[in-house]
Amino acid sequence: MTTVIDSKAADHADQANECTWWRQATVYQIYPRSFADANGDGIGDLVGITSRVPYLAKLGVNAVWLSPFYPSALADGGYDVDDYRNVDPKIGTLDDFDEMVSALHAANIKLIVDIVPNHSSDRHEWFQQALAAGRGSAERDRYIFREGLGENGELPPSDWVSMFGGPAWTRVDDGQWYLHLFASEQPDFNWKNRDVHEDFLTTLRFWSDRGVDGFRVDVAHGCAKELPEVLPTQAELDATPTTDGQHPIWDRNEVHDIYTEWREVLNEYDPPRIAVAEAWVASAERRARYASPTELGQAFNFDLLEADFDAGSFLEIVSTNLAEAKTAGSSTTWVFSNHDVVRHATRYGLPPRHGRDVKQGTEWLLSGGTTPELDVTTGLRRARAASLFMLGLPGSAYLYQGEELGLGEVADIPAEEHQDPAFFRNPGVDPGRDGCRVPLPWTREGVSFGFGSGEAHLPQPAWFGSVSVEAEEGDPASTLNLYRRALELRDDLQTAEELEWVEADAPDVLHFRRPNGWEVVTNFGTEPVALPAGTVLVSSGPLAGDTLPGETTVWLKA
Ligand code: NOJ
Repeated sequence: MTTVIDSKAADHADQANECTWWRQATVYQIYPRSFADANGDGIGDLVGITSRVPYLAKLGVNAVWLSPFYPSALADGGYDVDDYRNVDPKIGTLDDFDEMVSALHAANIKLIVDIVPNHSSDRHEWFQQALAAGRGSAERDRYIFREGLGENGELPPSDWVSMFGGPAWTRVDDGQWYLHLFASEQPDFNWKNRDVHEDFLTTLRFWSDRGVDGFRVDVAHGCAKELPEVLPTQAELDATPTTDGQHPIWDRNEVHDIYTEWREVLNEYDPPRIAVAEAWVASAERRARYASPTELGQAFNFDLLEADFDAGSFLEIVSTNLAEAKTAGSSTTWVFSNHDVVRHATRYGLPPRHGRDVKQGTEWLLSGGTTPELDVTTGLRRARAASLFMLGLPGSAYLYQGEELGLGEVADIPAEEHQDPAFFRNPGVDPGRDGCRVPLPWTREGVSFGFGSGEAHLPQPAWFGSVSVEAEEGDPASTLNLYRRALELRDDLQTAEELEWVEADAPDVLHFRRPNGWEVVTNFGTEPVALPAGTVLVSSGPLAGDTLPGETTVWLKA
């Protein structure tokens, strides 16, 4: 009898866990074309990912977030999708996808795929039909077409600038213009059109049926648009608040109708599929709407990513976001690096505010002979301390491939080898995002440091060998082994989503206790401070006797 009750209890616990795994998960972002190349063509592929599942399992991540792997001309690194329900032949097949899912699941790793609802690629079947069908057609209504200004409509409908620089409107052969908030190869969908809704619901079902556990929703805050007959100028648009849900483009209130509809589909599955919004919005309160359990369930919080390495800023961000998540009924997300920003090991080696803003090209001053100079050692020391701080927090941590190696940004990619539209649309201003997308080094040597048997699609610098998996594997002090140890311990930490701040002796120190009694202490300053009592479980750098050196985090057990 006892046995029966126990096993039922265990079943319930498993079921509960199946539904809530995402709340405190460690999610590892894979940018597929730069992770592992199995067929030697220089481009990472799905078979390559499958071959590295043992690596992911040993690292100890709970889930993978896979950036777009759909057929694409790569005008924007795959965020220009030709076909939402297929795999890019350059990186695999649907069978490869199924095998990858099985291998991940066999290793107890969930899979979240990227979905891109704001825009398709200009090669998408629907956009091609829209071009062929002409003005006023049902096909054209799936996108946002307008007549131009000027005597013959030769001027764009407005002076809007795209997110990558350059005009946000492009003219087609019959004279109409279409809107693209990003590259001209990325026409924006018209979400007032019912076909668009239905097609995305079909896509959600397609991948959910294939076993994916969730979705990362690209530009979630941009899909609903209300464009008046007479369009505002860019200056007027910039001056319009994004706080009340009435901005013509960003974070409109009715965008939530889309995600309420999505939630119904995601809940058709057992366990329900999860979703996390990429939503750049004005306030924590506006973000919480996307994270509501009746919508996507979770939303990225980029606050730590945007902050300097500073105790006061981190304290404020952590406190605010934990409180906000509680109100929203969601759990917090944390992230320092992704495929859009300068890697944090490099950001932290630059003076504050350099290399940290996604759009302000002038802030992206990096190494490679430019000023200010990069301090590689400080950058890595701080990155390790910051990551260990983050991994001790309640909520889910999103890691970007390579950060577990302490990888820095590649700042000296020759102009002709760049791929990112941001680089080309802002000549000489924006170094673009290729520097954080360089294929991973797996071995100390070899044509592409073990990424594949051919040359990598973006050039890898000579120093990559020294931060390869092979180089770090056997070094107990390596960043790779630091992440492994922290992730191994993290499961024990992630019980209740709570923390209690402990008063620290110095203003540059943050100290908190988790419900299991473990303590996390970070010294953000440069001078050593006294190490609080307890057994050291893991530290981001060497400890000196009973002191905690500067820019170091330690986990302690009382
Ligand atoms: C956000 C993605 O993270 C970024 O890489 C992409 O360029 C834009 N959305 C447009 O899809």
